[in-house]
Amino acid sequence: MLTEKMEKALNGQLNAELYSSYLYLSMNAYFKSVNLDGFANWMYYQAQEELEHSMKFYDFVIQRGGKVSLAQIEAPPTEWDGPLAIFEATLAHEQKVTGLINDLVEIALEEHDHATNIFLQWFVSEQVEEEESVGGVLEQLKLMGDAKGGLFMIDRELAKRSPSGGSEEGE
Ligand SMILES: [Fe+2]
Ligand SMILES: [Fe+2]
Repeated sequence: MLTEKMEKALNGQLNAELYSSYLYLSMNAYFKSVNLDGFANWMYYQAQEELEHSMKFYDFVIQRGGKVSLAQIEAPPTEWDGPLAIFEATLAHEQKVTGLINDLVEIALEEHDHATNIFLQWFVSEQVEEEESVGGVLEQLKLMGDAKGGLFMIDRELAKRSPSGGSEEGE
């Protein structure tokens, strides 16, 4: 059984994961609109992954005998200044989510809720991967500077991302 505080916090994270999915879907739409289909593809699978995260929270709350309360999802931005600005925003967003996951772990420890703590450990590791993969693309974009050819090279690279996860080999 979840404590009231834990249930509320998990429902909050369910909403935050849905917002992440919404944010990346909006970024997908932006990239589609400027014909960067590889970047769009990367964001499409990123949005799918966040939806999967939200469902993990959804299923876990129910499994623990809690009640899921779906709240309003904030509208994401729809315009950005380009790929660099988007990946800067994405890294900042993932760092914020890492903070939220850490806060949840703190609550689980305070509530002596070991099952939730174990459930959350997957997300602790996932956030390390998220920050690494987003940071990797951001580094490439920074290195490229104003070279147009570089942008299309990265776009081709990001087009390779498939449903299983990141665009890097071995995932
Ligand atoms: Fe997530
Ligand atoms: Fe994420």
